[in-house]
Amino acid sequence: MRFTITRLMSLAVAAVGLSLFAVLLLAPVPARATAEDPFDAAGSYKTKCVACHGAAADKRFDKTLTDDQLIEFVMKGKKPEKPPNMPAYGEKGVTAEQAKSLVDYMKSIKQ
Ligand code: HEC
Repeated sequence: MRFTITRLMSLAVAAVGLSLFAVLLLAPVPARATAEDPFDAAGSYKTKCVACHGAAADKRFDKTLTDDQLIEFVMKGKKPEKPPNMPAYGEKGVTAEQAKSLVDYMKSIKQ
């Protein structure tokens, strides 16, 4: 009987120890993810924009427009004479700050 209780207690101690270890192990991960890279402009460009604008932002991207104009087109969209239209990404949850990162990224890859 005594043996069993001691065993149970050591199991309990081990369980507490293990969960503390797990907390220590897992805790820093989300902190690191948010601090280092809040928005991945390159990744986002590759999934959402590359199909229409090309790998080097070589299509449908007039670099001579001002940042404010470019950001506005990302947020509100643009309808050229012929389709496809530039979608309004503001409606899809892209923030002005993210739009600015995307525009900066497009400028950096365009020759
Ligand atoms: C369905 C195709 C399509 C997709 C997807 C798309 N765009 Fe566009 N984009 C366009 C078209 C068309 C224009 C207007 C070009 C024109 O006026 O000749 C445009 C214009 C722009 C402009 C203004 C530059 C200019 O010369 O007019 C920016 C900046 C831009 N897009 C960024 C983005 C970003 C960032 C994404 C992804 C989040 C994206 N686009 C996704 C089609 C697209």
